[in-house]
Amino acid sequence: MIPPITVTTPQDGLFSESLISPDVSASLPQGYQLRALRRSDYDSGFLDCLRVLTTVGDISEEKFQKQYDNMVAREDYYIIVIEDTNREKNSVVATGALIVEHKFIHSLGKVGHIEDIAVAKDQQGKKLGLRLIQALDFVAEKIGCYKSILDCSDANEGFYVKCGFRRAGLQMAHYY
Ligand code: ACO
Repeated sequence: MIPPITVTTPQDGLFSESLISPDVSASLPQGYQLRALRRSDYDSGFLDCLRVLTTVGDISEEKFQKQYDNMVAREDYYIIVIEDTNREKNSVVATGALIVEHKFIHSLGKVGHIEDIAVAKDQQGKKLGLRLIQALDFVAEKIGCYKSILDCSDANEGFYVKCGFRRAGLQMAHYY
């Protein structure tokens, strides 16, 4: 049998609206909205949020959209944003990602990898970081991950402890 084809239009978010936590949405400051990343987020402030975290580089709109389309096709990328709808420009003020890994162990289990958590400098300290993590936890649980893991610097350990994470193991790396 041919599987059903899911058609995602450019206006749609990267993933289903049903994975946006109503409780987290309700706990945001007035005028702030939690939603999935959209193809139209090229110049919404999303990339500037990521610049708080690390180097982003000079990405063209075409390349941004190609990357977005690749993520839609993969179906394992859940990038959320928090938007301040009171702002006309650079309205995206925070972002975070959950990437799903499919395992053979744990009965074909799924692990969520939390990545690229970033809150715009002038928005830090308003619990937006905490809301991003809660929103990604909601997605991970709903799609059936048995755990979510992340790597962070020592300087951010306290933040993740406040979000309910605990230190587990040690990260090692090869850089290419
Ligand atoms: N160390 C200890 N506690 C912290 C830290 C920290 N670095 N940052 C925040 N907290 C505490 C807050 O005081 C608050 O505690 P409270 O509940 O007792 O008041 C709680 O954690 C929640 O803080 P938020 O207001 O939600 O934090 P914020 O919105 O500022 O987001 C974040 C925190 C994401 C670290 C933000 O400062 C940021 O974007 N930093 C730059 C980018 C970055 O380092 N991102 C994380 C990379 S790791 C990864 O992506 C997996």
